[in-house]
Amino acid sequence: MKMEIDTQAAILSITDEGGVQQIPLYSRAAFEALSRIWLKVGWNEKHPYTFSWLGRPIIQEPEDILRMQEVIYRLQPDLIIETGVAHGGSLILYASLCKAMGKGRVVGVDIEIRPHNRAAIEAHELASYITLIEGGSTDADTVGQVAQHVKAGEKVLVILDSNHTKAHVAAELDAYASFVSADSYIVATDGSMEFLHDVPRGQPGWIDDNPAAAAREFVARRQDFVLEQPAWPFNESGLRENITHWPSAWLRRVG
Ligand SMILES: C[S@@+](CC[C@H](N)C(=O)[O-])C[C@H]1O[C@@H](n2cnc3c(N)ncnc32)[C@H](O)[C@@H]1O
Repeated sequence: MKMEIDTQAAILSITDEGGVQQIPLYSRAAFEALSRIWLKVGWNEKHPYTFSWLGRPIIQEPEDILRMQEVIYRLQPDLIIETGVAHGGSLILYASLCKAMGKGRVVGVDIEIRPHNRAAIEAHELASYITLIEGGSTDADTVGQVAQHVKAGEKVLVILDSNHTKAHVAAELDAYASFVSADSYIVATDGSMEFLHDVPRGQPGWIDDNPAAAAREFVARRQDFVLEQPAWPFNESGLRENITHWPSAWLRRVG
């Protein structure tokens, strides 16, 4: 695919196997096409690895953080479970929202919580909102420990951000789906791997082996979840799509 931006004529030209497409530069279609490339270049340059939340590194694209905040404020969950802690920034984000909303607690699971990360999370002002569980996210023992934090009738949101192979995410979806309450979500993050497979920092196999593929197969065999990007609570634009590393990620529990 070849993309040419003519800023004088205000035209974006996209050439691929289907021929040449010319799009007005100042249009929703051009914004979406350019954003898709921007995500690829930005990921190669490690743009998502440049942010922190209240002092802890958070490895996410800013729009995904903002969209998550919108969903958490709308849902007002009692419990937020996340697999994949790393430096703890995403757990601190959820904890900060719990504090602001006056409700909710956070459980974070990671196969290896490095001592300096654990120490920093445990010393944080928001540590009292967070429980850390060390273990493989799909190990029966780990899932059992998580289950002890899930109370009947509570609103529960689950975010999967650990090992991003299709097989691992599929196993996580099976292990954690029952914790999700009706109208809440299980979020299979980083399906972007399917469009990052051809960037220098990517891997060719990611085109099929990614969380989005696991999420699509999950909804195909489950009646109780649908793939659905959460509605934006505010939108004074003509735009509709998230600029996101989480395509095909938001699985809403129905009924
Ligand atoms: C992308 S990072 C998480 C980023 C974090 N959620 C954030 O937003 O800053 C992925 C984490 O998953 C953990 N991980 C990898 N495989 C795992 C597994 N099988 N079970 C649990 N955690 C795993 C890694 O140790 C790593 O800390």
